[in-house]
Amino acid sequence: MVRNDCGSAFLIGTFVFFHFNRLKSVGKCVIIITITQLEYFLEEIIMDYKIALIPGDGIGPEIVGEAKKVLDKVCEKYGHSFSYSEVLLGGASIDVHGVPLTDEAIATAKSSDAVLMGSIGGDAKTSPWYKLEPSKRPEAGLLAIRKALNLFANLRPAYLYNELKKACPLRDEVIGDGFDMVIMRELTGGLYFGERHTEEIDGVRTAIDTLSYNENEIRRIAIKAFDIARKRKKHVISVDKANVLDSSRLWRAVVEEVAKDYEDVTYEHMLVDNCAMQLVNNPRQFDVILTENMFGDILSDEASMITGSIGMLSSASLAEGKFGLYEPSHGSAQDIANPIATILSAAMMLRYSFDLDKEADEIEKAVKAVLADGYRTVDIMSDGMKKVGCKEMGQLIIDQIK
Ligand code: IPM
Ligand code: MG
Repeated sequence: MVRNDCGSAFLIGTFVFFHFNRLKSVGKCVIIITITQLEYFLEEIIMDYKIALIPGDGIGPEIVGEAKKVLDKVCEKYGHSFSYSEVLLGGASIDVHGVPLTDEAIATAKSSDAVLMGSIGGDAKTSPWYKLEPSKRPEAGLLAIRKALNLFANLRPAYLYNELKKACPLRDEVIGDGFDMVIMRELTGGLYFGERHTEEIDGVRTAIDTLSYNENEIRRIAIKAFDIARKRKKHVISVDKANVLDSSRLWRAVVEEVAKDYEDVTYEHMLVDNCAMQLVNNPRQFDVILTENMFGDILSDEASMITGSIGMLSSASLAEGKFGLYEPSHGSAQDIANPIATILSAAMMLRYSFDLDKEADEIEKAVKAVLADGYRTVDIMSDGMKKVGCKEMGQLIIDQIK
């Protein structure tokens, strides 16, 4: 939401347009100076946004706390004002309400401009949350919020920071000058949301999951992928299993239809098993990977692994329009708290939901500067670097935003 009233700017503009020639040169000078100031003023537009904050479980509250402090610093510097409503999801919601997601939580998220989330879930072996039936466990809350908010496009960048090359498990000749890809994963369809049940057929326990996609679901995610590719290296690799699955054959056909509207973007199809190999064989060939829900889940973990640390990777789950939920790609593991993925997710929120590119750039630059200065959390630590904790890392990033 833009807080400034642009009406006066419009009136001044109209006056200048009709009367400029009639003014004496002093008047013209005054007008030109005013326009220059007006441009400056418009560039510094102040924004008011409502953010739903989901700290979640495990390290979630700790990393979200750091991301919020970074956002506070951005607000202070640029004069924006963000207001926050806290929402419970996953185990935190089970503990209070007995279910991983409530209708009120959905309503709060829907009435916000965007959602920033930490991570959810606990240790499946020890946590009481996993004694509950599957539909009441923390992960069910995550799937339910994705569906309720219609977050069908999940963007997961996998970028190898120069400073973290040593953490990449691939050989130097494979890494070359690094890689920078984004996985566009369909998030509200496929096996995750198909009909499923377990039954006994002739005395044999049988479980059934359904994989279905309709052409509209495929088209809207393909459009998002080609749109993003247009802003990047203009290459889409659509990943499927068209040599076996009907849903993949429809996927291919619809991707080809969409591609016709993007003559400036090149594309190819790749089978998912080959893609899994290519990610470690030649990751530099990828720009945008477009794929369905389950393949995207698996491939995005593989892609994050070759960047050296999943603790660095942000993600955005987008609905139609500007609304999105932003979260780190990693889980809630108690022992490793690196706030960088959540801070970078907050930067994605500024970029994709609020159009605050300059502010997002500044956060990303701050992260790079802290890495270049040699600071590392335990998950990305290497010889000769300075080890810091979650809070210290957050503060170092904030200190770079001057
Ligand atoms: C992810 C996670 C989730 C998924 C789990 C927690 C349900 O692995 O976001 O990638 O499979 O989508
Ligand atoms: Mg996953």
